Amino acid sequence: MKKVYNFNAGPCVLPQAAIDATIEALKDFKGTGIPVISVSHRTKEWDAVMDECRSLWRELLNIPDTHEVIFLGGGASLQFLYVAMNLLEKKAAYLETGVWAKKALKEAKGLGDAYAIASSADKTYSYIPKGYEIPSDLDYFHITTNNTIYGTEIKYDMDCPVNLVADMSSDIMSRPVDVSKYALIYGGAQKNVGPAGVAFAIIRKDVLGKVSRYIPTMLDYRTHIDGLSMFNTPPVFAIFIMNETLKWLKGLGGIEAVHKLNEEKARVLYEEIDRNSLFVGTAAKEDRSIMNVCFVMAPGKESLQDEFFAFAKERGMVGIKGHRSVGGFRASLYNACPVEAVNALVACMQEFEKLHK
Ligand SMILES: Cc1ncc(COP(=O)(O)O)c(C=O)c1O
Repeated sequence: MKKVYNFNAGPCVLPQAAIDATIEALKDFKGTGIPVISVSHRTKEWDAVMDECRSLWRELLNIPDTHEVIFLGGGASLQFLYVAMNLLEKKAAYLETGVWAKKALKEAKGLGDAYAIASSADKTYSYIPKGYEIPSDLDYFHITTNNTIYGTEIKYDMDCPVNLVADMSSDIMSRPVDVSKYALIYGGAQKNVGPAGVAFAIIRKDVLGKVSRYIPTMLDYRTHIDGLSMFNTPPVFAIFIMNETLKWLKGLGGIEAVHKLNEEKARVLYEEIDRNSLFVGTAAKEDRSIMNVCFVMAPGKESLQDEFFAFAKERGMVGIKGHRSVGGFRASLYNACPVEAVNALVACMQEFEKLHK
């Protein structure tokens, strides 16, 4: 197979160990003689996968007993609705740090009083708004910790006077998180923890059951907590691969270990962007994401963009095109992206600079 370096923003690179284990399970799932995609979810073999997966989530993120972790279909986008459906009674505020945050807010507005407390739309979401005050009469305050499209990230667990809700789709398990500071953390798995097809939610149990609206059964978090994520047929295949991805992460040394690697990968690439005369970063330096590194051609060098895409493609770089709404380049450095890939991209940028000096 051709050597490629996968910088896709999600679905994206997954650990080879998880892929190899999946290939084996497609031949024979745990000695059952049937492929994992044909297994009944009402079997002891499948129960063992669910139990292991839940335990790995708890162990890797150090999830306290106050919180449950569940796995759901519908992606992070359906979680936008779940959040408001389950938590919004009087009022909620959202930090508008990008298109995903806006989409989350839209769902809340459809159900009640929800508003953007601050926004960075004025500069194409290239920074994280600061200096806003969170009122104490909110049902919850919603943040998007990593803004996949713009390469900005809230890299700390903020103190919040009300229930803090976080979309961590694109930075979950990339850094240690103090789960106790959040009422709810959710996201799609398809960046750091698995393939597309499964979403996760980590919920502090005491925040549920407080709203007066009727919650449809499938949109009620309690249904899935009570049903151990198997109220209805779970996305078996995606959960299997997620479990293998978490086993790999644990083997690597867990989240502290991967966080160090992630920081190093991001440091190396940002350093090159800042040094190289042909490129400039687009995110405010203090808010730079360690997951999605966004950059463009330097002023006056814009005409070289297509040439660089072709040049990089020839050298095996895949998925470095920026999101269609912002253009430029984006290299996603999720957990399973090896240091070797970042080094290859940096070498490619240096070679390209030499050609155009
Ligand atoms: C931060 C963030 N939130 C939400 C989403 C939407 O996820 P999904 O496609 O699983 O609905 C994405 C997708 O890339 C994302 O990056």
